[in-house]
Amino acid sequence: MTQELKDQIAVVTGAARGIGAAISQQLASMGATVLLAARDQSKLREVQSQIQSAGGTAHIAQLDLLDESSILSLADTLKARHNSRCDILVNNAGIGLLGKPLTELTPTDWDTLMGTNLRGPYLMIRALAPLMIAANYGHIINISSLAGRNPLPNGAAYSASKWALNGLTYSVAEELRPHNIRVSVVAPGSVDTGFGRGEPGNPRKIQPTDIAHVVATLVTQAPQSFISEVLVRPTQKP
Ligand SMILES: NC(=O)c1ccc[n+]([C@@H]2O[C@H](COP(=O)([O-])OP(=O)(O)OC[C@H]3O[C@@H](n4cnc5c(N)ncnc54)[C@H](OP(=O)(O)O)[C@@H]3O)[C@@H](O)[C@H]2O)c1
Repeated sequence: MTQELKDQIAVVTGAARGIGAAISQQLASMGATVLLAARDQSKLREVQSQIQSAGGTAHIAQLDLLDESSILSLADTLKARHNSRCDILVNNAGIGLLGKPLTELTPTDWDTLMGTNLRGPYLMIRALAPLMIAANYGHIINISSLAGRNPLPNGAAYSASKWALNGLTYSVAEELRPHNIRVSVVAPGSVDTGFGRGEPGNPRKIQPTDIAHVVATLVTQAPQSFISEVLVRPTQKP
């Protein structure tokens, strides 16, 4: 445990597994109090107990990005129990719905994907950035993808959601700079999680801890500058 983020409150969406769990563990190991946000409470409890066993502090927040009321409840929790602080927001939760050509994707699938990957981060920023503005401090980190820089056949909607998330990030970063809020996007290649198809367990792939390391770097950058975008690639192609 280090204390670089002592007294800071971090909210991580999609903290139940994969990249979000690794980011949460990393931020807690640096002394932050982490709100673990996702739908699956039992998985969140597992992540919480791993953090607590390592001496960190984490709380569970029920969050469904498709349900704005759960986002507003999370904001209320921060106001009531955490002194209206949100120092770090990591918009990590996302879904892929990969493996189908666009013409086979239903409009409902499209709405679910955009609702989670794009409207979700928008609603989170809308709910939590005012706390950062009031504190004149904050980091917002959006987890995008190299699919937000490149074409992704059989993943067109996913790719479109991440291209859009990049545009949202660059623009809101300019809006929030005057408030001392640094907004960054992290765009990994294929990460060794259960995301999409396949099981984790390929050590040649980017590991969730690699993305957590990037997030740790972003939130400890000296105050006079910020890293606006990070692209993460595997050293050797898996
Ligand atoms: N893995 C990769 O290869 C890769 C590459 C580039 C970028 N990314 C991006 O990295 C992020 C995390 O990916 P991952 O690989 O860690 O995925 P993952 O293992 O499938 O985890 C996704 C997380 O998002 C949460 N989530 C999904 N829908 C949600 C909703 N409606 N409301 C709240 N939480 C929701 C899930 O929890 P619940 O189901 O419990 O809600 C889960 O904790 C995503 O944005 C993904 O696009 C992944």
